[in-house]
Amino acid sequence: MKVATIIGARPQFIKAAPVSAALTAAGIEEVLIDTGQHYDDNMAGAFLREFGMRRPSHVLGVGGGPHGAMTGRMIERTEAVLTQEKPDAVLVYGDTNSTLAGALAAAKLALPLIHVEAGLRSRLATMPEEINRRVTDHVSTVLCCPTASAMENLKQEGLAAATAPVHLLKPVEIEAAVSGRPVVVNIGDVMVDALYRRRAQLGTDVPIPGISSGTYALVTVHRADATDNRETLAAIVAALNELAAAMPVIFPLHPRTKAALEQHGLALTARVHSMPPASHGDFTRLLVNAKAVVTDSGGVQKEACILEVPCFTLRNETEWNETVQSGWNVLLGSKPNGLEDHILAFVRPRASAGNVFGDGKAADRIVVLLKAFLSANVLKRAVG
Ligand code: UD1
Repeated sequence: MKVATIIGARPQFIKAAPVSAALTAAGIEEVLIDTGQHYDDNMAGAFLREFGMRRPSHVLGVGGGPHGAMTGRMIERTEAVLTQEKPDAVLVYGDTNSTLAGALAAAKLALPLIHVEAGLRSRLATMPEEINRRVTDHVSTVLCCPTASAMENLKQEGLAAATAPVHLLKPVEIEAAVSGRPVVVNIGDVMVDALYRRRAQLGTDVPIPGISSGTYALVTVHRADATDNRETLAAIVAALNELAAAMPVIFPLHPRTKAALEQHGLALTARVHSMPPASHGDFTRLLVNAKAVVTDSGGVQKEACILEVPCFTLRNETEWNETVQSGWNVLLGSKPNGLEDHILAFVRPRASAGNVFGDGKAADRIVVLLKAFLSANVLKRAVG
């Protein structure tokens, strides 16, 4: 049995890591295809090494450029690799251009397509990630949802849920997928698998000398909405500069944000401790010790919620509504004011965020799914 995994952006390296380990443990051959969407080593290759993953068999080298050109080149190169490799199934993660390109290439070759992190919706029709995830969901064979609300989103779009948990899938449900009706299952979030494993390996110290636990705000900003618009980025910079007068601010800079600050002529004060993107280990240590996190990242909202760190999100909406419902995440909009006041006024919820995102065993469920589908021999290779 051979599976092709398509990755390309930072969160995809993190999500694919526990699944790659589970595939290896199950003796399933995996071909890693890296589109090259994130090409800085500290946004891509460093994660492969940190997670002990093997080097990608194919590096497509498609980084940068407008969305259409980037996605088009990725489809062309992914199709060529899939035709050559003839995998039994294709795995894609999340909502990036790499996800969309991989999904379209696999679907047009009639290869079984498994979408991990299916069913998320921001309901912002023009958001690039929203377009990518909607299209990917609707060409997938198996939709692996991370939460109950993702299942509900798909139901509203006419994609019905499987009636049984993954390990009890009936042949009829598997056959439905072959006849064009996808199987929709809630397996939990693979990012939780990665976070739990990381937490188990970590020391408890802050990885920056001179900074004490529980005293600082950790910041990440990278979404195009925040970086491409000078007015929005200027408002964020002003808010962070103001916050830095009150408490230490630690800001691992995404390459897109670093470039945008230079391009827009905006400067963080010297009191903001900016640094290159952190490894997953260092970032998790920074997060677990933070007084608060200020972010526009999808993944960081969840991780903060699971680790019970107050999270202030620089967006008006989130795909991860459970984080807000749990009380650990506050949506401040993209032009925040008075960050210090928000952080000081935060009331820690009594209840833990619990396991709304899963139990850390999502990767094992993907292996169960693959085995059920492929050993049933109902999904035939269409290539070659
Ligand atoms: C978002 C996009 C995704 C895009 C990606 C680009 C949404 C819904 N999704 O995902 O389509 O490809 O941004 O980056 O907008 N981390 C580190 N080191 C750091 C900072 C973060 O290891 O310095 C880790 C976090 O622990 C977390 C992950 O990176 O596990 C989050 O990645 P991030 O780049 O923030 O992506 P998302 O917002 O989740």
